Amino acid sequence: MAATAASATTLPDAPFLPFHRASIGPEEVSAVVEVLQSGWLTTGPRVKQFESAFATHVGAAHAIAVSSCTAALHLALAAIGLEEGDEVILPTMTFAATGEAVLYFRARPVLVDCAADSFHLDPNRIEDAITPRTRAILPVHYSGYASGMDAILEIASRRNLKVIEDAAHSFPSQYRGKTIGTIGDITCFSFYATKTLTTGEGGMITTENPDYAGRMRILSLHGISRDAWKRYTSEGSWRYDIESLGYKYNLTDLQAAIGLAQLARSESLRVQRAALAARYTCELSSFDVFVTPVVPDDVQHAWHLYVLQVNEETLQISRDRVIEELKQHGIGTSVHFIPLHLHPLYQNHCGYRRGQFPNAERHFASAISLPLYPGLTSEEQARVIQALHDIARLYRR
Ligand SMILES: Cc1ncc(COP(=O)(O)O)c(C=O)c1O
Repeated sequence: MAATAASATTLPDAPFLPFHRASIGPEEVSAVVEVLQSGWLTTGPRVKQFESAFATHVGAAHAIAVSSCTAALHLALAAIGLEEGDEVILPTMTFAATGEAVLYFRARPVLVDCAADSFHLDPNRIEDAITPRTRAILPVHYSGYASGMDAILEIASRRNLKVIEDAAHSFPSQYRGKTIGTIGDITCFSFYATKTLTTGEGGMITTENPDYAGRMRILSLHGISRDAWKRYTSEGSWRYDIESLGYKYNLTDLQAAIGLAQLARSESLRVQRAALAARYTCELSSFDVFVTPVVPDDVQHAWHLYVLQVNEETLQISRDRVIEELKQHGIGTSVHFIPLHLHPLYQNHCGYRRGQFPNAERHFASAISLPLYPGLTSEEQARVIQALHDIARLYRR
């Protein structure tokens, strides 16, 4: 007989454990105070310092700080000259931003399924999705490590396509000894509040191509000629030329100050997330009701997400019910992602339909993202693990 939710062990007095808490320390606080006291709050010396430090950190020739990864994706597609009617290949298993950036151009997001055993885009499905209108492949480095970049780069080079990487989840990360941010034509990072390096909101674009870098820099601040941000400084001039139709996508010095402090701690933060992930896997992999993430040997994982999958063949309750049970235990979780083709925009505007990408649908139906952040204490993580053990015991078929 199925157990009821009421029979699960609950800890009513324990405070709610959120899905995420940003790791902000005294370094970030004093860096922000310093900027506040400097009298210069928006794009300025801190942003330039952050761009330079980030470029050095990943080993990229150019880094352009922007207001979000969404903005980064928009500028990257503008830099390659995407036009109305063009097509961009991307995984259906991604966040709104990846497809949205393509739609800004009235171009078509050509969605591709995941591999059977991973949440990443399946490189074997790319070739079939290419048409004469295809301009770029936009892989998403889901959860914290790269898609199969060797295969993607080989197809792109043979079919004369650009590769723009959505690395919103993947700082700091490596693929076959190469740092993410140095592999494709352009890489886009997110510094959103839940990300592995945060500035509250923010993003960074890296590229080896000086023309792309120059274009993206100008477009990021109203299409105004080089160094528009300097116009109020002693080095700058009040004169400016609007060279093209641009956007207001600049990062501020307040945000960059947080980013610089986070960057300095990024390896230590990564190691802490990796240790938490290893503990989840160690404590949860012996239950046949759960599937723990498998990490390829050739990557270094940034561990933005720890995505546990529910095995509905051995568990009596659905993923949604597991999330509810965890909530009753006072534990916050999330789901990454509802595949794009299941959303009204993609069905009504682009003609996608349910059933078209079965691997993504299967992965989506089983996925739960568990709390994973450096401030998660050992006791808090033990609570998550204990709750999952309780669920496994109560609801195993
Ligand atoms: C895969 C992916 N791409 C892009 C974004 C957009 O990032 P931002 O919020 O910095 O615009 C996100 C945000 O969560 C994401 O998960």
